[in-house]
Amino acid sequence: MTMNVLLTGGAGYIGSHTAIELLDMGHSVVIVDNFSNSKPEALNRIREITGKNFKFFEADVCDSAAMDKLFSENEIECVIHFAGLKAVGESCAIPVKYYRNNIDSTLTLLETMKKHGVNNFVFSSSATVYGDSDKMPLTEDMPTLTSGSPYGRTKLMIEQILTDACSADPELSVVLLRYFNPIGAHKSGRIGEDPSGIPNNLMPYISQVAVGKLPKLGIFGNDYPTPDGTCVRDYIHVVDLAKGHAKAIDYAASHKGAEAFNLGTGVGYSVLDIVNSFIKVNGIDLKYEFQPRRAGDIPECYSDPSKAERELGWKAERTIEDMCRDSWNWQKNNPNGLN
Ligand code: NAD
Ligand code: WQD
Repeated sequence: MTMNVLLTGGAGYIGSHTAIELLDMGHSVVIVDNFSNSKPEALNRIREITGKNFKFFEADVCDSAAMDKLFSENEIECVIHFAGLKAVGESCAIPVKYYRNNIDSTLTLLETMKKHGVNNFVFSSSATVYGDSDKMPLTEDMPTLTSGSPYGRTKLMIEQILTDACSADPELSVVLLRYFNPIGAHKSGRIGEDPSGIPNNLMPYISQVAVGKLPKLGIFGNDYPTPDGTCVRDYIHVVDLAKGHAKAIDYAASHKGAEAFNLGTGVGYSVLDIVNSFIKVNGIDLKYEFQPRRAGDIPECYSDPSKAERELGWKAERTIEDMCRDSWNWQKNNPNGLN
């Protein structure tokens, strides 16, 4: 069944890749974004890659009047809420802005959806809601957030808000997608992750060192209780993640209530695994040095993704080699990102 899907934050990294998957499958797409962390060129690239058009609204999702107008002018059947601020460190420096943006945008959407009789909601949650668990792999029924950042707490609070909204409204259907570590890019090399300023995350940092924009990678800690001493994460190709959203909107349309799913591969790779794979797959050199641990990092984090396979019919297919190849293909073809 094809649907008319609203993608908030659809000009961003995960939203733009999801827009491509949905358009390729024949869904109609409406995007709203305020470009607080993305560029209009992303929209051109989505059109170029898919050969399809979609409606775009430049607006803040916290703006009720703008959202009311958008829902009045479009027969939205499902909302995927990507829009949000996502930098962990920044959220410690400006927590109020993070709470305002991430929570207010969700509340505004819930109110506007209720007014317009829209019942299907897919939310970009995060593995960060599991906090500092010492049991791996992580399953959806494990306790959430024993420690973490204001950013992580916005995700947990929003999960709770959405779950409460479902308890009170038997028509509402919410899918909470807990992403692990998305990396990689569309195989065309025309869209990819385009952080502003110096990247916080590992893969964009590696890519920018490889392309010569940054002198060397600092690996944060090599004395963790992991096989090679560097932290272990569940990296997932952004295109696999995007495909998970296509399954989630089908699930939302045929279920009621709130349900959480891990979207990961189930395999943990260390920072050195990623660095070595990037070097090998792409045949290039990469300068790195070990540096002290980064505050707030946990030694290991990887998913049990079997619930998503069982109930959504989704499984990650792309390998770590695919992720490293596609990240580099994007970066080398767009050394300055999207302009
Ligand atoms: P991104 O910053 O590339 O995309 C988010 C988009 O939302 C941007 O285009 C930004 O301009 C837009 N936006 C933010 N606030 C807005 C608002 N109030 N109104 C309109 N637009 C707004 O981030 P991403 O990596 O694509 O992440 C998408 C979602 O997934 C976020 O909610 C993020 O917290 C979540 N997530 C990301 C990761 C990750 O590692 N990338 C992991 C887990 C969860
Ligand atoms: C991965 C590993 C670093 C940069 C974050 C958020 C999480 C989720 C995904 C949104 C860690 C190491 C990194 C560098 C390094 N986002 N590293 N040098 O921290 O696992 O997860 O993004 O929800 O909530 O916390 O991802 O890419 O920052 O780090 O050594 O320059 O790479 O220490 O071990 P992280 P990351």
